[in-house]
Amino acid sequence: MLQLELFPRMELKALSDFQKLEAARLPLNDLTKLVLTPEFFQSPKANDVIRRQHAGILDKILGFRIRYIEEMLIADARGFDPDGAHDTWGPLMHQGVQTWVGLEKETLQTPYSECLRILQLLKIKPYQQVVDLGAAYGRMGIVIGGLYIKNSFTGYEYVKARVDEGNRIYRELGMNRCQLITQDLFAKDFEMPQADIFFIYDYGQVEHIDHTLRQLEQVAYKRPIKVVVRGKFTKQIITDRHEWLDLQYDGKLEELFSIYTAYIA
Ligand SMILES: C[S@@+](CC[C@H](N)C(=O)[O-])C[C@H]1O[C@@H](n2cnc3c(N)ncnc32)[C@H](O)[C@@H]1O
Repeated sequence: MLQLELFPRMELKALSDFQKLEAARLPLNDLTKLVLTPEFFQSPKANDVIRRQHAGILDKILGFRIRYIEEMLIADARGFDPDGAHDTWGPLMHQGVQTWVGLEKETLQTPYSECLRILQLLKIKPYQQVVDLGAAYGRMGIVIGGLYIKNSFTGYEYVKARVDEGNRIYRELGMNRCQLITQDLFAKDFEMPQADIFFIYDYGQVEHIDHTLRQLEQVAYKRPIKVVVRGKFTKQIITDRHEWLDLQYDGKLEELFSIYTAYIA
């Protein structure tokens, strides 16, 4: 059972337990303890609605200012096209890059509990490196920073405001093995890092994702890799064009991800 300064003995079983933590505005000392606890990242129920609610509450407990930042981005976007929406605003504002400005914030990111489930299934070994390609605010890094103390995380993200906010929270929580980097993954000079595990959740346009998968194929010539894929576009691109990836785990029921492996010897 969790022991915090504010709540000497606390169970995290229902959404209302997490809501209590949110209302309490915990001191940093308690927050740094919370993120070391797997139950913190576990959703009270395994259905998508509760997972998303749980994730939204965790963002608030941790002090993320996601709503504010996304609203600022939408305000900028309206300057480009007052009648636009999430499918048009990102590319208009960001040189054709689909940054999903205007997308509902729980659709933009993977719930923490799903990040946890993915990491458990991956059975990551000490010192393996995890990379998120199109990381938004870097939720995967929060779970790794808290629970996987011998692993490092790098998230690449086009939108600097998201990167700055994620890095601010990592710094506050003392997660110095986690970082977000402002980067266009489609830039000509972007070199794919030599990591062990890569995560892609439908980050952008089809040709951008295809280009990233080609870069991952080159990494797989040098070392074994695992690629976690969330979202139907990326899965379809893999089925159509990337048979070098072997499907290892196909998410069941409300698990919206698949895990592929590759080592092209
Ligand atoms: C659907 S979100 C997924 C966020 C995170 N991976 C998660 O699952 O929680 C995709 C992110 O990729 C970013 N993105 C899209 N195109 C990109 C590009 N060319 N370079 C870097 N990031 C990009 C978007 O701005 C967005 O934040």
